[in-house]
Amino acid sequence: MRKILVSLGFLVLAFLLVGPNPIHSQELKEIKLLKPLMDGGRPLMQVLNDRQSSREFSTDELPLQVLSNLLWAAFGINRPDSEKRTAPSSSNCQNIDIYAAMAKGLYLYGAKENILKPVLVEDIRAATGTHSFVKDVSVNLIYVADFSKLTEEIEEDKNYFSAANTGFISQNVYLYCASEGLATVVRGGIDRETLSKVMKLRPDQKVMFAQSVGYPKK
Ligand SMILES: Cc1cc2nc3c(=O)[nH]c(=O)nc-3n(C[C@H](O)[C@H](O)[C@H](O)COP(=O)(O)O)c2cc1C
Repeated sequence: MRKILVSLGFLVLAFLLVGPNPIHSQELKEIKLLKPLMDGGRPLMQVLNDRQSSREFSTDELPLQVLSNLLWAAFGINRPDSEKRTAPSSSNCQNIDIYAAMAKGLYLYGAKENILKPVLVEDIRAATGTHSFVKDVSVNLIYVADFSKLTEEIEEDKNYFSAANTGFISQNVYLYCASEGLATVVRGGIDRETLSKVMKLRPDQKVMFAQSVGYPKK
């Protein structure tokens, strides 16, 4: 009887410590993205005419094909021979990584493998910005610069080049969203120190900007 009571005590303690619905890291699986569809999209001039920032999102998830197209448009490989991308990159350094914070966890976009690699089995959307909508939006893209890939001698140049490299990717996302009728806004309003800790980034990885993407609020 004593043994049973001790075991029950341990179970209650474990429940209190871990919470009612523990998620284990092994549960977050890699997401195999679909081949991006190349024959969609509206005429460029109409898309440019519609590009805008929106801050009202529905909570509906993006279908896998849309997510796949979005990430490819953002910074996918468009020339397999050289592995160059849809956005330019200073000295071809390719130093921007795209993380995707979604309800089921945090992922890293692997352009070469066309996958989303699991990073954290936590919903960190609320930490991706100071705006209240970020916690509910389908995807928050986080643009992280890897400063270890930069060779500029002047430290300040590393910031300029990383910001420019990020801007091109962000504009690709804006244009894809305008073409597909999705809502998006790029955001500098981020507590970068906290977010870096939450994402467990290395000291040479710097959060540049975030960009929320979802369907517009109905
Ligand atoms: C570098 C950069 C940082 C931005 N940061 C924020 C932000 O933190 N929050 C926000 O709501 N919008 C942010 N924006 C979006 C701008 O407010 C928006 O682009 C501007 O108001 C013009 O509106 P438009 O994009 O619809 O043309 C940012 C835009 C840029 C380029």
